[in-house]
Amino acid sequence: MLTQDLFATPPDAAARVAELRQTLHEHAHRYYVLDEPSLPDAEYDRLFQELQALETRHPELITPDSPTQRVGGKALDQFAAVRHAVPMLSIRTETDTQASGAENFDARIRRELELTEGDAPVTYVAEPKFDGLAMNLRYEQGVLVQAATRGDGETGEDVTQNIRTIGQIPLRLPPDVPAVLEVRGEVYMRRDDFEALNERQRQKIAAGAKGEKTFVNPRNAAAGAVRQLDPAIAAQRPLSFFAYGLGEITPVPDGGPEFATHYELLQTLKHWGFPVSAHVKRACGAIELVAYYETIGQQRDGLGFDIDGVVYKVDSLALQRRLGFVTREPRWAVAHKFPAQEMLTTVLAIDVQVGRTGKLTPVAKLAPVFVGGVTVTNATLHNEDEARRKDVRLGDTVVVRRAGDVIPEVVSVLPDKRQPGTEPFTMPHTCPVCGSAAIREEGEADYRCTGGLFCSAQRKQAILHFAQRRAVEVEGLGDKLVDQLVDGGIIHTLPDLYRLGLTALANLDRMADKSAQNLLDALQKSKQTTLPRFLFGLGIRHVGEATAKALARHFGQLDAIMAATEEQLLEVADIGPIVAQSLRTFFDQPHNREVVEQLRACGVTWEEGPPLERAPTPLSGKTFVLTGTLPTLEREQAKALIEAAGGKVAGSVSKKTSFVVAGAEAGSKLAKALELGVAVLDEAGLHAMLQGVDE
Ligand code: IVH
Repeated sequence: MLTQDLFATPPDAAARVAELRQTLHEHAHRYYVLDEPSLPDAEYDRLFQELQALETRHPELITPDSPTQRVGGKALDQFAAVRHAVPMLSIRTETDTQASGAENFDARIRRELELTEGDAPVTYVAEPKFDGLAMNLRYEQGVLVQAATRGDGETGEDVTQNIRTIGQIPLRLPPDVPAVLEVRGEVYMRRDDFEALNERQRQKIAAGAKGEKTFVNPRNAAAGAVRQLDPAIAAQRPLSFFAYGLGEITPVPDGGPEFATHYELLQTLKHWGFPVSAHVKRACGAIELVAYYETIGQQRDGLGFDIDGVVYKVDSLALQRRLGFVTREPRWAVAHKFPAQEMLTTVLAIDVQVGRTGKLTPVAKLAPVFVGGVTVTNATLHNEDEARRKDVRLGDTVVVRRAGDVIPEVVSVLPDKRQPGTEPFTMPHTCPVCGSAAIREEGEADYRCTGGLFCSAQRKQAILHFAQRRAVEVEGLGDKLVDQLVDGGIIHTLPDLYRLGLTALANLDRMADKSAQNLLDALQKSKQTTLPRFLFGLGIRHVGEATAKALARHFGQLDAIMAATEEQLLEVADIGPIVAQSLRTFFDQPHNREVVEQLRACGVTWEEGPPLERAPTPLSGKTFVLTGTLPTLEREQAKALIEAAGGKVAGSVSKKTSFVVAGAEAGSKLAKALELGVAVLDEAGLHAMLQGVDE
């Protein structure tokens, strides 16, 4: 279709509308469900606008399954109640987070099916337990007519307008579907969508918008979006969907797909255009259920969406029917929970910790709570702004989150549980350890103690950093020992480590002669190191392991690094102005140079190498004179290119001139070049030289 016929008669318009909808439906499925876009966005938009235009001119052609109808409804006063044709059940939950959670379920199923040890294992389908909201999608003649929440299982709420805005949910199904089909699944919000939404919310709040808030977690954000009365607002909340079951269904027409198992049912739903999680697996017997539980548990943090466990379902629909229900729960399914990643606890104190670079971090001391598989007693509040934003106070009841290996954090406060008379947290303006001024520089999020190595907290951290495995590695030098050494005034600076004697060490608490000797041996061993480890160990701000390696490779020798100007440092691959400046600042401090010298004097050593051969720039050492009009380059452009390649540009021709670059209507400079025997290039010749090609 190249042109748009403005005077199309309704039959033509109807045909075109149908054609456009078909294309847009197919594309939406590819884009939202399969994640394989087949049309450029601009083309999709063009077709969409064409459809909108046709529907505006022929409103009688608008149907609820048109892609234009995803957003467009009016704001509601309240949601209508929907009585579910088939009740929406819940699942029995197994909170035992050991393998036994799966084994007990399998044992129960086998008992109820009267299977004995000799019988074959039962086949199950194992699925993630998505952390969102259950939804019933009703299709009549293949068209989405209603979406309803679970509610109390008997009666839910009609949230069709909001659910239509979810791109992953098909508005129309292929022709072979049953006349009445209810698909059930979970509406949820992906973590990246959640982060982006909260970022937008924060910007709105910062811009002074009233009534806006950020969301605590993806589940709450999804629930808020689904229960949003204004579909235009719901449309801005990016939701997703996974199908996992059926509600009411009329018999599948002759020749249509049939299914004897839950797994086949899910494949059919996928075929009809519904998103089905790729993590759904068939599992044979208890052993495979346990394996699934463990695998998904490990993958949990990388899934892109929150889950709170897995669900096991008996695969055979015939067996499901035999097993039946107890009260509101099917006997054939169970939810096996993972350890919760968020828990409630109370704040016992708010401490301020001092890091290696002097950074002050507010930390909430918590009543011990089991979360994410470990007992947590501390949670970071990150910095002043975060602590203020969350407004965490002494005695507050807070949500603590620990996901994967991430440091536990306070997510939010339960304001209703706050004790009266509490004060907001304020960051101290002096270092809680050494009393030096703590300063927050403009544009920085953190307060820093200005005490440097005068501050014992920074000294301890600096020593631990230097001694860690990734730096020079002093085996056995842990934080307890460093506390004793620094607090006891035994060591003040890094080099003091190498001046420790057996007597001083053996006099420490809980230090036997043997362990003292082991530590001395470890210190001795650490003296033979490598340049990257040593550099990293110095704890220069912004100099991590990768940067230390790049510096060592580039310069070869420590003295060269210490002497390098910011410009020279910037020549190192991956080093930018912040790191270059930080290196310069560090080595400009006499006491830092002194530490390096003393460490060397104590015998810390490494192999130095030659500096990296730097590729000579193609035009270095060459002088150019430009004359006449070049075919494509302006004078200034040519000059910039030459200089960037290491060459110089002069104004007049002399014997020192390496090349004259001549264009049209070149005059006396060209004559002079010919007279002096200076080589003459045209623009093409210059380009060839810039690329390092010999002319
Ligand atoms: S099946 C009869 N499968 O868990 C079984 N539910 O109490 C009906 N859920 O609110 C549910 N992931 O929203 C099923 N893969 C999954 C699920 C799942 C999450 C939720 C569902 C319901 C609750 C069950």
